[in-house]
Amino acid sequence: MANEVNNLGDMSTASRLLVFGGCYSNLAATQAMQAVAAELGIKPEQIICTGDLIAYCAEPVEVLDLIQDWGIHVLMGNCEESLGFEQLDCGCGFEKTSVCSALSIAWYQYASQRVALEHRTWMKSLPRVIEFQFQSTRFRVVHGSVTSINQFIFPSTEAEMKLAQINQTDADVAIGGHSGIPFGQSLVDESLKSKIWLNSGVIGMPANDGTADGWYMLVESDSSGYRLNWHRLPYDAKASQKTTRIAGMVEYAEALTTGLWPNMDILPIKEQGEQGQRLEVGAMTIANSNQ
Ligand SMILES: [Fe+2]
Repeated sequence: MANEVNNLGDMSTASRLLVFGGCYSNLAATQAMQAVAAELGIKPEQIICTGDLIAYCAEPVEVLDLIQDWGIHVLMGNCEESLGFEQLDCGCGFEKTSVCSALSIAWYQYASQRVALEHRTWMKSLPRVIEFQFQSTRFRVVHGSVTSINQFIFPSTEAEMKLAQINQTDADVAIGGHSGIPFGQSLVDESLKSKIWLNSGVIGMPANDGTADGWYMLVESDSSGYRLNWHRLPYDAKASQKTTRIAGMVEYAEALTTGLWPNMDILPIKEQGEQGQRLEVGAMTIANSNQ
């Protein structure tokens, strides 16, 4: 049985947290993320991955081994849930007739044939929720939404829906993964309390913005509170493209360098219209309410 909730306690004893998601079996991207963390001096216990270690690319076992050796906090994504519990598909919730569904069959079979029993056991043991406090803010990390591991929450998803999700918890800030687009959105609920929905972005597949880069997020203390900063992760995308193409996932291999998703079935109209536009994600500053 998976640990449902992993409470990390007060994480602001260190000045900086690193959050990323979606390694997607992309070894070069995951190695680049680890190198950035080392360069920034961020220890594994200050790093959270929002899940989906395994998906579209060609090196699932290598990525799993790297992440386990690294020792960072990992949330269960729908891909870990599906592979861990030996389900028949990736559990992304794609429509059966969609292109996403057809493409996911190839990578899921590829990964499923390679992961060992001990990998599945480890994936099953991952928490479905990670909670922590940073200064006076309570964070809740979920893969899709609060209520569903495979719900897509995008920038254009209605604010009321994001608020309704956060308000089912005692958190001030929700960090989601799954949707692959980095963003931060300030929200105000009916009792005029400030809430925030965040997505760190993913490292293993571009953000559909016409660049090959992945994305990660830093939570950093400053003099009056803390800041959220999103950063691009450049890496050797051609290396991952080569292995992904050889493995037969040619559509995803193309996407690694074009920066364009092979299809947009899951995207709302607004995000579809933004395909190929270079993404900018502005920093957010949050004042410490105790000051
Ligand atoms: Fe996911």
